[in-house]
Amino acid sequence: MSSCCSVFCATSQRQFTAAVARRDLAQYRKRGPDATTRLLKDAILGAGSGSSVLDIGSGIGALSFELLAAGVRRATAVDASTAYLAAAREEAGRRNLMDRLELIHGDFVAMAGDIQPADIVALDRVVCCYPTYAQLIEAALKRSSRMFAFSFPRDRWFVRAVFAVENLGRAMLRNPFRAFVHPARAMQALLEQHGFTRMQRSETLVWSADLYVRAASGSPAALGQSVAATPREQ
Ligand SMILES: C[S@@+](CC[C@H](N)C(=O)[O-])C[C@H]1O[C@@H](n2cnc3c(N)ncnc32)[C@H](O)[C@@H]1O
Repeated sequence: MSSCCSVFCATSQRQFTAAVARRDLAQYRKRGPDATTRLLKDAILGAGSGSSVLDIGSGIGALSFELLAAGVRRATAVDASTAYLAAAREEAGRRNLMDRLELIHGDFVAMAGDIQPADIVALDRVVCCYPTYAQLIEAALKRSSRMFAFSFPRDRWFVRAVFAVENLGRAMLRNPFRAFVHPARAMQALLEQHGFTRMQRSETLVWSADLYVRAASGSPAALGQSVAATPREQ
């Protein structure tokens, strides 16, 4: 596990503590992946998968474990929280996957140039933790040779209201971490500017889980599937 940290790492450590990591790992072992993780996994596998995944903001590594179990050969999990990475290492040991999973500590934006590209780059509930979404998405896209999958809070008034209340609670507890509802249309425009086409969108009440493919790497036909219907356009 290498380390290259920034102010963001300190902020993330304050939010994603050992207690949070223990709770998330116990929940994953008991109930399996959360809804957004399941949606991203299904979208990635439905589009033909790939041999390597770069799981940015991996948390305990649930998406990496799911994809490794489904046949992806190698995963690299990057996170700013050492507690989450320790939980991911423990789970990888339990699953006998340490030789297929690399764990990297740091702010991905600060260290992206040192990280190997992958077929699939995924950010599951990660852009909402990072203040400057464009920087994070652009750095991630440069590391994707084929697919970009991410989940993010939907740009809706009730989602903004919940995030605002949670951020107020954090401010009162002097926790510097803040969660953001970044504009969905602007993120889509950024992805398209960089040559990625949206293949699928699945939504829950709060989250959107999107799959994009690098234009040159395959039209829907080349991927052997049709573009999934978008249940509710934003
Ligand atoms: C809400 S958690 C989600 C964890 C996991 N992906 C999941 O869905 O269960 C967001 C994680 O993203 C990490 N994160 C956000 N921005 C990051 C960045 N720029 N570099 C590394 N980690 C980042 C945070 O440290 C945190 O662990």
